[in-house]
Amino acid sequence: MPIERTLSIIKPDATKRNLTGLINAKFEKAGLRIIAQKRLQLTRSMAEKFYEIHKDRPFYNDLVNFMISAPVLVQVLEGNNAVKLNRDVMGATNPDDADEGTIRKEFAKSIEANSVHGSDSLENAQIEISFFFANIELVV
Ligand code: CMP
Repeated sequence: MPIERTLSIIKPDATKRNLTGLINAKFEKAGLRIIAQKRLQLTRSMAEKFYEIHKDRPFYNDLVNFMISAPVLVQVLEGNNAVKLNRDVMGATNPDDADEGTIRKEFAKSIEANSVHGSDSLENAQIEISFFFANIELVV
């Protein structure tokens, strides 16, 4: 299985509730290694740019406001099939649809306040990782 890297964000609803350690434990238990991590207060322009792909969706403004409402933890996770593995660990975008044992089933409050973001493809993972991290910050 290929070793991949994916971008993860622990979102404001989770940082506010002091859940970062519990969420990181889920990643590590699943075999994902946290090779970079930093706590940031996103600016509006950073959040708008990061989620630009959704700019025509009706939820875009609310999503940007939510993502700047408190600090986030941005992370790079590495492991076998890390992009898909992380999406499996996170669970469905809407916590109502998420499987038992997933992060979103356990912690998410709504489809917006859904505790975590994870890249949806290897191509987007590379773009999203370079949005937040320089190569020198990725330490295996
Ligand atoms: P995320 O994986 O960060 O990618 C885009 C985010 O938009 C998504 O998680 C959700 O938190 C948020 N969002 C809010 N409303 C919706 C919606 N109706 N459909 C999809 N995503 C939504």
